[in-house]
Amino acid sequence: MRRVVCPGSFDPITNGHLDIIARACSLFDEVVIAVLVNQTKSSLFTVPERIEMIKEVTARYKNIKIDSWSGLLVDYCKANQIPTIVKGLRAVSDFDYELQMSQVNLQLQGVETLFMSTAPSNSFLSSSLVKEIASYGGDVSGYMPAAIVDKLRSRLDRKG
Ligand code: PNS
Repeated sequence: MRRVVCPGSFDPITNGHLDIIARACSLFDEVVIAVLVNQTKSSLFTVPERIEMIKEVTARYKNIKIDSWSGLLVDYCKANQIPTIVKGLRAVSDFDYELQMSQVNLQLQGVETLFMSTAPSNSFLSSSLVKEIASYGGDVSGYMPAAIVDKLRSRLDRKG
């Protein structure tokens, strides 16, 4: 069985994530979406909230598993016998950091990383950007499923 992990903060999930997930689902027998902690970012949604949102918008894919992990990604891979990570590359600006991570992950535990280029329409898209647009009242309906837009709006409204 060919298994791959699709890691990220998913705070919240966007159409960019969904594009990579859908394409990975057609290439692998099982895609594990792993919600991880990115220590360089503060989060808007809790991990259980992010998992619920992912569940809701990926229900149509039958070969997905959703999980969370608070340690190193490679330790998750090792513990779950997943040999490969899949990541979306948006632009050259992603490349330096992603290359560094893929090399360290290979060296630490022998875990391979496959990069998928994002659809051109998503090349600028990130959860951080969408949160910023939404926080100023901008329209983010083109960037994420409607159910996620609603949750984002009500979270930002509550935060004031
Ligand atoms: O969606 P993001 O925030 O770009 O995802 C980054 C993430 C969470 C995949 C990355 O920060 C990560 O793998 N974190 C887990 C800890 C880890 O393994 N760090 C890399 C060691 S070099």
